Amino acid sequence: MQSAAQRVEHQLTDKGYVPVYTTRVIEQPWETYTAEDHRTWATLFQRQRELLVGRAAKEFVENQERFGMSAEAIPKFSDLNRVLEATTGWTLIAVEGLLPELTFFEHLANRRFPVTWWIRKPEQLDYLSEPDLFHDLFGHVPLLLNPVFADYMQAYGCGGVKAAAIGPEALVNLTRLYWYTVEFGLINTPDGLRIYGAGIVSSKGESIYCLDSAAPNRIGFDLERVMRTRYRIDTYQKTYFVIDSYEQLMDATRPDFTPIYARLAAEPSIAAGNVLAGDHVFQRGSGEGWLADGDV
Ligand code: PHE
Ligand code: CO
Repeated sequence: MQSAAQRVEHQLTDKGYVPVYTTRVIEQPWETYTAEDHRTWATLFQRQRELLVGRAAKEFVENQERFGMSAEAIPKFSDLNRVLEATTGWTLIAVEGLLPELTFFEHLANRRFPVTWWIRKPEQLDYLSEPDLFHDLFGHVPLLLNPVFADYMQAYGCGGVKAAAIGPEALVNLTRLYWYTVEFGLINTPDGLRIYGAGIVSSKGESIYCLDSAAPNRIGFDLERVMRTRYRIDTYQKTYFVIDSYEQLMDATRPDFTPIYARLAAEPSIAAGNVLAGDHVFQRGSGEGWLADGDV
């Protein structure tokens, strides 16, 4: 018999919230969503969709529509999977919370995307410190229909398995790449800069801030530069990196990273807000409102 799906969340300790990891793959317990859960989805869906007009990359909303995602109800993974499997061969799997790194990489390497089954509570509409169903489904899943991005995600998973065997420093470099692309990436389009990062599109405040604010840097994507740059987990980013296309991302990450990790081990990391001489600067941030400490 299958035990009930759990909602595994960060635990509050005397050192603040600490992440809790779980490895179980479950069936999405769709029947257990309450009316309040569906309302939370509807509120967030409508709010973000309005905000993302002219802000998100166009394939983002297009693909949500191809999936048939709507405000009406929390989507069923089985419905999304029919579209996804027929298009790029990815499969969504339901999980209870954060996965250990290697488990996460192995799923991606096999074109399985883990989605947290539970949705945030109404008092967490604007922020929660860990991924939930809204972040994962609304934020990450749409671009899995894009063939190039879908391949990038798989290559990232393979790269993660490899980096885990090389060591913790390699993993730090690789994690920064994920952070500044998959989670907080911007893309340059003929209409201007647009959002493609899941961490941004699932956040009301950051969807506005990343494009409209004079405070953050916006800098052209450069693989090794990104892999050296520390980041923020509890505030908006100080720097966003801009790709020209998903092909650029794929091409830049195709080479074997093993010699790159070795080279970067000898170089200092870069603070989240720094601008370097060689950077292609779209905008040099004013730095207004930045906290001095807390780069990871
Ligand atoms: N080419 C990388 C490696 O050799 C793998 C990778 C691809 C990593 C895409 C991230 C993104 O490790
Ligand atoms: Co995410």
